[in-house]
Amino acid sequence: MTALRIGVCGNGTVGGGTIEMLQSRAALLEARAGCPVVLTRVGARRDRDDCPVQDVPVERDLLAVARADDVDVVVECIGGTTLARELTELALNNGKAVVTANKALIAEHGNELLALAEAKGVSLLFEAAVAGGIPILKALRDGMAGNHVSGVSGIINGTGNFILTEMESGKRAFDDVLAQAQELGYAEADPSFDIDGIDAAHKLTILASMAFAMPLDFASVHCEGIGTVTPEDIQFAGELGYRIKHLGIARSSEQGVELRVHPTLLPNDALLANVDGVLNAVRLEGDCAGPTVYSGAGAGRLPTASAVVADIIDIARAGGNVVSSLGVPVASLEPVTSLAMSEVRCPWYLRLKAQDKPGVMSRLASCLGAEGISIEALIQKPPVGNDETVSVVVLTNAAREGDLRRAMAAIGSMDEVSDAPHGIRVDSP
Ligand code: HSE
Repeated sequence: MTALRIGVCGNGTVGGGTIEMLQSRAALLEARAGCPVVLTRVGARRDRDDCPVQDVPVERDLLAVARADDVDVVVECIGGTTLARELTELALNNGKAVVTANKALIAEHGNELLALAEAKGVSLLFEAAVAGGIPILKALRDGMAGNHVSGVSGIINGTGNFILTEMESGKRAFDDVLAQAQELGYAEADPSFDIDGIDAAHKLTILASMAFAMPLDFASVHCEGIGTVTPEDIQFAGELGYRIKHLGIARSSEQGVELRVHPTLLPNDALLANVDGVLNAVRLEGDCAGPTVYSGAGAGRLPTASAVVADIIDIARAGGNVVSSLGVPVASLEPVTSLAMSEVRCPWYLRLKAQDKPGVMSRLASCLGAEGISIEALIQKPPVGNDETVSVVVLTNAAREGDLRRAMAAIGSMDEVSDAPHGIRVDSP
């Protein structure tokens, strides 16, 4: 049995976890892969105490791993899209398979990289790029292979979920929770990727491409982060029977495909509403399978390394055949129409501050009514201390976003409204 020889580039959280798995469970991996899986090179720009590498040459020039004669599979765990892209292209051009955990690389350059891998007749896999330890790409590629998938929604950023959960349950400040997420290795090197939703948008791009057989189209994802969610919103949502989660949502309909990442109110009894901490969860809507939900650790050293190692085993099991996470040729992906956000329909939560005067509520309701939007629930909080304004929270029925935005502008221009309305979309799958 010929060994499959692995070169791991990057010895941070994911690379370190992968090295640890390869070195500590050789017998199990050989049994599962059908051949020995041997770590032959590590590419690391610096040594890390938490990732000791034993008996394996360490290259300071990461590109040397993609040139090495004793490497069959290059594992890219360095992140970013510059050196990581160069390394991946070099490895593919040199006839080596690539396994990557890099969602930015695949979301932004995946169409070209998949085409290159196919042209060179080598494998390119990226299970670890989406939702850490949850084998969600394999669920889409294999388990749902016979379905038309009409929707994918999920909590796909562990750091964001950890922050929202701790803000709610621990009544903790945003910055304090973020610092802890960084210490635990959940957050990206640049945590604004987590907070601003870019990380989730990268993952949603990959999920949508696989679900709807469309090219990777990161530019079409509407992306909002969690920075606008206040403790008040979390509390008011709770009073209305909802929790706030940061969701990635991709839906396909006759009108087109909607791709969006934003904070979302979910009913308390929705499965995704009860996924807390660093956990991720993804819900797929298949026309035959119906809705299925997958949950688990979406970030962290060994959960993400578990997905990397599963891809390595996929390559080993394929023998000399080419495998890809996509499962179909990239040329078979067909562009789709992206639905403008103004056309997306959903219920909305609105929070604003208004003077406590007669007639204010009826004028507010008129602004919504003028756009054909009806009110599902309305809460007015009593004034606090000498404050002459009160917080008002409105839950609307499903509305077209363009209409809702006009109603919000009209409400914001009312004399009695001091803080313009702040809106959060509601999802009730
Ligand atoms: N920063 C990411 C997260 C890591 O928090 O989900 C996994 O992609």
